[in-house]
Amino acid sequence: MERVIPTLLKWYKITARNLPWRETNDPYKIWISEIILQQTRVVQGLGYYNRFVLAFPNIQALANASEQEILKSWQGLGYYARARNMHKAAKLILSAHSGVFPTNVEMLLALPGIGNYTASAIASFAYGLPEPAIDGNVKRVGARFFGLYEPIHTSQFYTQLHAVLRVAIVQTNANIFNQAMIEVGALLCLPKQPKCEECPLNSHCVAFLNKLQNQIPVVVQKQKPMAKYRHYLCLHRGDTVAIRIRNESGIYQHLYEFPAVSREDKLDHLEAILALFGIVDNISIISKKTFKHQLTHQTIYATCWYLRISDDKFVSPSDWEWHNKESIANLPIHRLMEKMIKFT
Ligand code: ADE
Repeated sequence: MERVIPTLLKWYKITARNLPWRETNDPYKIWISEIILQQTRVVQGLGYYNRFVLAFPNIQALANASEQEILKSWQGLGYYARARNMHKAAKLILSAHSGVFPTNVEMLLALPGIGNYTASAIASFAYGLPEPAIDGNVKRVGARFFGLYEPIHTSQFYTQLHAVLRVAIVQTNANIFNQAMIEVGALLCLPKQPKCEECPLNSHCVAFLNKLQNQIPVVVQKQKPMAKYRHYLCLHRGDTVAIRIRNESGIYQHLYEFPAVSREDKLDHLEAILALFGIVDNISIISKKTFKHQLTHQTIYATCWYLRISDDKFVSPSDWEWHNKESIANLPIHRLMEKMIKFT
């Protein structure tokens, strides 16, 4: 990489966008800008940044502000935990570091909401420390330049890229090097149709030289959560309800729940659903509620039918147990089941 660094820095000097956080060495302002830029693009981030540092010009102002004020300034950016973490970190810097922003990566990493990327960005932009700041853009640039085939979301990839960038960054101005890599990623090394002809790295870029821009980086598609529809019967008989242990393998195995059927479709007629259970007896409906339950790989739309059975002669399947509320409290149940029971 050493061979291209002079070209990279020259290109940056000529081309880079003038952004306010690039014109300061204040770690506080750099930190604010990096947290905002994790949430939004530069153009929208600019307005938020300017308003935020005007309202809270330094660490003391942020620490002493109310959470409500901070959240208000953050409004519209989403992921409000980031704003709350900034508030916590500001208070911690006042109480544990006498108001002085931490000056090395280890101490930065110890603050709430600061991960590898943000810690390295602050360390290099504010203090010139040779820490590669590896965000999504830099991952793409690095993967293509060095020809790294490891999937881009893995820790193996991060370790490899960090090692090779570290060798490069110690030989140059860390601040400008990191900013320049971010800029290449934002302006030229685009995910689709990168502008390789204009790129200051192209003379040594493995992907460009071998026409592998579409193969690298290797991105393993994250699975979209699948929609699943499940119907639960909260079937009352006297003061008991039917419940069964879930024996099917899966995340809920061996937990208790109301009798249920899964569907790929949105079937929504009680008679049709009862037929799936083989129930034709005298049943009256009390109410019905659909719960959206988000899991990592699945979104479960669980419709719970609250029903009452009046027929004493009803013979339930052998694995159903009839429990009252007190005895259910002693059984292991999942979160979704907790939600459904609350409505009984
Ligand atoms: N995205 C994340 N950090 C950035 C920075 N310092 N400049 C421009 N875009 C960025």
